[in-house]
Amino acid sequence: MKHIRNFCIIAHIDHGKSTLADRLLDFTGTVTEREKKEQLLDSMDLERERGITIKSHAIQMEYTYKGEEYILNLIDTPGHVDFSYEVSRSIAACEGALLIVDAAQSIQAQTISNLYLALENDLEIIPVLNKVDLPSANPEEVTDDIVDLLGCDPEEVIHASGKTGFGVENILAAIIERVPAPKGNPDEPLQALIFDSVYNPFRGVETYFRVLNGTIKKGQNIKFIATGKNYFADEIGTLKLKQFPRQEIKAGDVGYVITGIKEAKEVKVGDTLTDAKNPTTNIIEGFEDVKPMVFAGIYPVDTEDYEELRNSMEKLQLNDASLVFAPESSAALGFGFRCGFLGMLHMEIIQERLEREFDMTVITTVPNVSYHAFTRKYPDVPVIVNNPTDLPDPSGLDRVEEPFIKATIITKSDFVGNVMSLCIEKRGMVLNQTYLTTERVEMTFDMPLAEIVFDFYDRLKTVSKGYASFDYHPIGMKTSKLVRVDILLNAQPVDALSALIHADNAHTIGKKMCEKLKELIPRQQFDIPIQAAIGAKIISRETIKALRKDVTAKCYGGDISRKRKLLEKQKKGKKRMRQVGNVEIPQEAFMAVLKLN
Ligand code: GTP
Repeated sequence: MKHIRNFCIIAHIDHGKSTLADRLLDFTGTVTEREKKEQLLDSMDLERERGITIKSHAIQMEYTYKGEEYILNLIDTPGHVDFSYEVSRSIAACEGALLIVDAAQSIQAQTISNLYLALENDLEIIPVLNKVDLPSANPEEVTDDIVDLLGCDPEEVIHASGKTGFGVENILAAIIERVPAPKGNPDEPLQALIFDSVYNPFRGVETYFRVLNGTIKKGQNIKFIATGKNYFADEIGTLKLKQFPRQEIKAGDVGYVITGIKEAKEVKVGDTLTDAKNPTTNIIEGFEDVKPMVFAGIYPVDTEDYEELRNSMEKLQLNDASLVFAPESSAALGFGFRCGFLGMLHMEIIQERLEREFDMTVITTVPNVSYHAFTRKYPDVPVIVNNPTDLPDPSGLDRVEEPFIKATIITKSDFVGNVMSLCIEKRGMVLNQTYLTTERVEMTFDMPLAEIVFDFYDRLKTVSKGYASFDYHPIGMKTSKLVRVDILLNAQPVDALSALIHADNAHTIGKKMCEKLKELIPRQQFDIPIQAAIGAKIISRETIKALRKDVTAKCYGGDISRKRKLLEKQKKGKKRMRQVGNVEIPQEAFMAVLKLN
């Protein structure tokens, strides 16, 4: 155990975590030439294309230092806030963390939030100043920022470049010298922390764990405390680029177990794994079920594909336990599903996977957060509103609560005013403002989650010319003056376009919605009135004028190829459209409320 080191890499998004991890694998010879690929750890196609790490993974390296063999377990963590729960579990499985800071960008919001998580878990922090090869790097100043943040010596900050490999040897030495060896007793009852799981269509769920105490053996009868279920450890092993089956894994080490579990939701990240016959009484604290934060309807474009969509969703859920869904029906769209996601990125990923892996064409409706509505009749019993149409009738409504978050934004002092106005426009309340340096300011706000879900991040980037970073965590429910704004097309309400909006903004947003829908819904053979309403009261109106000409009219008789091209184009355009009554609504229109500015 004295020769094991468990560490993770934490960083703000794009500061170079995956690239540096690749260099560590190269340097320790964990990866052979043939296996070398860009961003090795990001094995899912989607991850590689988007350049982000979605799921965390673990990998074991062997390294000889001062004549002794060490085992270094690197536990990779996802960088996006949607997946922050996984970061916290990965951190809990380690004794040390490399804190990577981009030498040009300096400390950003997630640098700080991840650092706090690491400190809460008593991790030894090794600061790494990365990307020192960049011409725009500012090593002295950024080192000062790091020293201020951590209260460490400047000499403790390791200069490195994931691109050139500079500094990698120093990082490995620091991991061995500074990160404490794991503690724990291999003879006690098994106590292991599950920090990740991966679904494999052939072998079932592979569970990644860190043994805190005891020993896990091949064939052992093991118990998952959260579900209370027992399974046989059919295969256990350690992870390099491939899996290496082993007979046993002892306290201090990291590994995987395959038990024949076929559904991702049976294995819960954060849960304790123990021996079925001789269970530990020491349950690892802090386990929580991951809660979806954003809800939206997913409907097949073709109503006949409903059953196939259900099959696809079920298959997706097998390997993504954080996806939840329930059947719902919409007067406008027919049968579909209300789905819960960790965040907007997660929602996009699911939509993309449905289309790529399952060949489904779907319409996603306006996303919303989960509200609690209280009626006058039962003022203490919340009605969970995951769909605006489920809001109880306003006449009997006592109050509505919505989820709030605490947001941390780091920006340059020049943009403080802009960021402040944006946050106030988004119903934020300033809590604090601190100068980290003369140039850089950290601001904290309380804000409704719903405002973040909408276009907040893009707006923040615009008002700060890209010099703002952002992180948040939920702080609970608060009462808000919310009303439901409905949209009527051709005098027919389209339930899938309804949204809950703060009463003070409802008129402005209703008006903007009508204008935006006018832009997005294609003209048809007749006039289409668009109205926004609160209850029976119309608050805004626009009209889409009827088309006067046939699109093909201007192709003279002979030009058949041009005509065909136009028709093709029309057909393509139709792909993501839904017929509602006699109006065709394109996918973008369902997202209109997100793009009003
Ligand atoms: P997430 O996984 O999305 O959190 O990002 P990450 O922190 O893993 O960053 P990643 O390794 O994907 O690197 C982000 C970008 O920075 C990529 O375009 C890399 O090529 C680039 N990059 C990473 N390290 C270095 C470096 O040392 N020098 C330079 N010049 N570029 C780097």
